[in-house]
Amino acid sequence: DPEGSLKPRAPVVTIMGHVDHGKTSLLDALRGTDVVRGEAGGITQHIGAYQIKTKGGDLITFLDTPGHEAFTEMRARGAHVTDIVILVVAADDGIMPQTIEAINHTKAAGVPMIVAITKVDKHEANAQRIRERLLEHEVVVEAMSGEVQDVEVSAKTGAGLDELIEKILLQAEVMELQANPDRAAEATVIEAKLDKGKGPLASVLVTRGTLKVGDILVVGTHSGRVRAMLDDKGRQVKAAPPSLPVEVLGLGGVPMAGDTLTVVDSEARAREVAAYRQEK
Ligand code: GTP
Ligand code: NA
Ligand code: MG
Repeated sequence: DPEGSLKPRAPVVTIMGHVDHGKTSLLDALRGTDVVRGEAGGITQHIGAYQIKTKGGDLITFLDTPGHEAFTEMRARGAHVTDIVILVVAADDGIMPQTIEAINHTKAAGVPMIVAITKVDKHEANAQRIRERLLEHEVVVEAMSGEVQDVEVSAKTGAGLDELIEKILLQAEVMELQANPDRAAEATVIEAKLDKGKGPLASVLVTRGTLKVGDILVVGTHSGRVRAMLDDKGRQVKAAPPSLPVEVLGLGGVPMAGDTLTVVDSEARAREVAAYRQEK
């Protein structure tokens, strides 16, 4: 990079697993909020992107992907934002179709996996059976003499949450994740929509540089200028560093998941790049 230098960045952790196995509840417990209760029918409809600060002050970014759609879409478009996958498996259920799909996605992406065996507070919970069943899908956890980390958790009692955080941080440390915050920003679109009041909105994850209010940008085939940014709690953000998910206002159109957002130095340049991308 011409300016600045590489600095450590927060790991981006994607939560995957079968429907109702407890992905959002686990994230809620980690964040200390209650998103599940606010969801229609307890079903996650769209991707949630959050950043938490651990007790030790470390930052971790989480993506909650319903039906793995965003993950699949982003991968199909060549976007690789996930550093670590948390495979959530309910201890009172088993290895289900979307569990297998998540395992396959993770392997294909070559991303390290941590297995969170959840709902261990339930009477019917049988974590050992889950470990054994995972063997059939070539996921060999440490307790079965393998190398995949696993942890028993409960979103209800909070059991195992600290251990899960520790394992994520340990994995992240090994990966030496870095990005240069001191350059023009690049970000990846996680999801986007047209809001009646606010216009085109995109949830993006900054991959390098720092995205700032007022920045001129190209995203997919649209140009724009950052009018405002909001974090996962709806607070205004003036500058978003690498690994921070933010909602961006001020886009000229609605981009697609997996599109790259690039900051450029003039509106003329933005229009030029957008036009070029439209031709392709
Ligand atoms: P989708 O987004 O719809 O795929 O579901 P999800 O995987 O996000 O699961 P969700 O967090 O919505 O939880 C599904 C159900 O399991 C809810 O009724 C939760 O209250 C319950 N649940 C989740 N985690 C736990 C847990 O650790 N213990 C117990 N007892 N129940 C849990
Ligand atoms: Na659910
Ligand atoms: Mg959910």
